Amino acid sequence: MKLKKLVALALTLALTATVAIGCGSSSTNNSGGDKSANTTSKKLVLGFSQIGAESGWRTAETNSIKEIPNLDSNVELKFSDAQQKQENQIKALRSFIAQKVDVIALAPVVETGWDTVFKEAKDAKIPIILVDRGVKVSDDSLYSTFIGSDFIAEGKSAGKILTDKFGKDAKLNIVELQGTVGASAANDRQKGFADYIKDYPGYKVIKSQSGDFSRAKGKEVMEAFLKSEGKNIQAVYAHNDDMAMGAIQAIEEYGLKPGVDVAIVSIDGIKDAFQAVADGKSTGVVECNPLLGPQILQAAKDLAAGKTVDKWIKSNEGVFVGDQAKKELPNRKY
Ligand code: AHR
Repeated sequence: MKLKKLVALALTLALTATVAIGCGSSSTNNSGGDKSANTTSKKLVLGFSQIGAESGWRTAETNSIKEIPNLDSNVELKFSDAQQKQENQIKALRSFIAQKVDVIALAPVVETGWDTVFKEAKDAKIPIILVDRGVKVSDDSLYSTFIGSDFIAEGKSAGKILTDKFGKDAKLNIVELQGTVGASAANDRQKGFADYIKDYPGYKVIKSQSGDFSRAKGKEVMEAFLKSEGKNIQAVYAHNDDMAMGAIQAIEEYGLKPGVDVAIVSIDGIKDAFQAVADGKSTGVVECNPLLGPQILQAAKDLAAGKTVDKWIKSNEGVFVGDQAKKELPNRKY
């Protein structure tokens, strides 16, 4: 009987100790690390409106942004694809506002037409992060920050690739494949290039048309340019790599050698473009960084915490011609 009581007492003590150890480790997690705190605290909800999937660059950007919840498990991403339509982006923004997300990120397809919906977000106290493309709004305080590249500088760098190759006194007929009409990436890349070649009187843009940042459209427009101008074209300036890839195909099908008979410069830095430079089919590529996920995450966390962030978080980018592209090719991440 005495033995039975002792065994029962020992069992009770052992059970109490196990429960106490369990509680102890859990409370250590609560106070020391944020792992178990994360399971109870409210997640930061980030709504992102993407333009679509027009280019390899855009796909790389989407993938980088979709990685955000894997970088920080305390962030929930609501992703919306606008299929190239501003009206879809405005609808997505209104839906994010209705869902009371903490922060909105937007890659705006075009520059204008955002004032009303941005004001609605501001009234709802939801900060807006502009991603990769800029906007023209009546009041810059309608958005918190712009994370992306200097498109005017990119246009100038593209011009410089040509003047470095052909020299100051060359005579060059250039055709331009513009990006999406009304997009800051198209407007600024056009401006940067035009400003740069002003100092080179022999360099002339003889045709300029939108290829909508897509490979298929770039090819189609280049075919039309070749049909009307033929061998009168000495260079192609494409606002992105995908259109340049389409132009290369069109030039080959026309019976000319891209990179030899017709120089090609483009912007983005996708693997295909690096390969084309390495193969001698393209003259050079200006890099534009699409891997913006980590910077968006940081800005979203700062804004949600009430901190101010830089108005423009600028990307660093390089210019690659000839052997530089060949050397860099194995390191390309997109
Ligand atoms: O806004 C950036 C541009 O959009 C990229 O250069 C182009 O490839 C994309 O679709």
